[in-house]
Amino acid sequence: PEHRPLFGRHVLITAGPTREPIDPVRYIANRSSGKQGFAIAAAAAAAGARVTLVAGPVFLETPHGVDRIDVESAREMAAAVKGNLPADVAIMVAAVSDWRSKDVSGEKIKKRGSAPPALMLTENPDILATTAAGGNRPSLLIGFAAETQDVVENAKTKLKRKGVDWIVANDVSGDVMGGENNRVQIVTKRGVESLQNMPKDDVARELIARVAEELETSAER
Ligand code: C5P
Repeated sequence: PEHRPLFGRHVLITAGPTREPIDPVRYIANRSSGKQGFAIAAAAAAAGARVTLVAGPVFLETPHGVDRIDVESAREMAAAVKGNLPADVAIMVAAVSDWRSKDVSGEKIKKRGSAPPALMLTENPDILATTAAGGNRPSLLIGFAAETQDVVENAKTKLKRKGVDWIVANDVSGDVMGGENNRVQIVTKRGVESLQNMPKDDVARELIARVAEELETSAER
């Protein structure tokens, strides 16, 4: 039916930042409100999908009809994603921390002496690339790319490097972070579609409409 085009589909979405502990009181995180990912989850549910939303720490209400799994770190997010496949569509909107502290102190690190402590970092798993390469790959796998320059060029590179179907590139050089509006470009193997600057809810609906269309046409093929 036209108004519930994703009925019978499972859509898996990641949203928000991750939080990587340094000690019991400190962490490394990304500047992400989770608003865009939550809006996409809401739009997918409104389109009739079964939606699993894997969320980092954010201050947002769970959209109606969405199954939400709260996580903190990138590794927890990776495990939750893996554990909730298969999905027809996965949309990875989370701003995952690229690194975490190599050693997590069990006690609060004290200010002592004159030298500040050195923070050693280690790489986090790339959830999107791992999902692309793993078993149970969703037939439509979509990543986001926050860029401040060469937005489309970087998105095209990322599309290939990560082995995903679409990259939604957003220019975060303005006040997108935490803001209500977003301006995105949808980069696929076929080309680039630039959407206007619009509220994140509208970006979400536009994206979900294209997802539904893609699933429909790929089913016809
Ligand atoms: O490489 P970059 O971080 O710009 O890629 C962004 C995309 O990759 C987003 O879709 C983000 O959710 C995903 N990502 C991920 N795991 C990481 C880093 C990024 O899933 N460790």
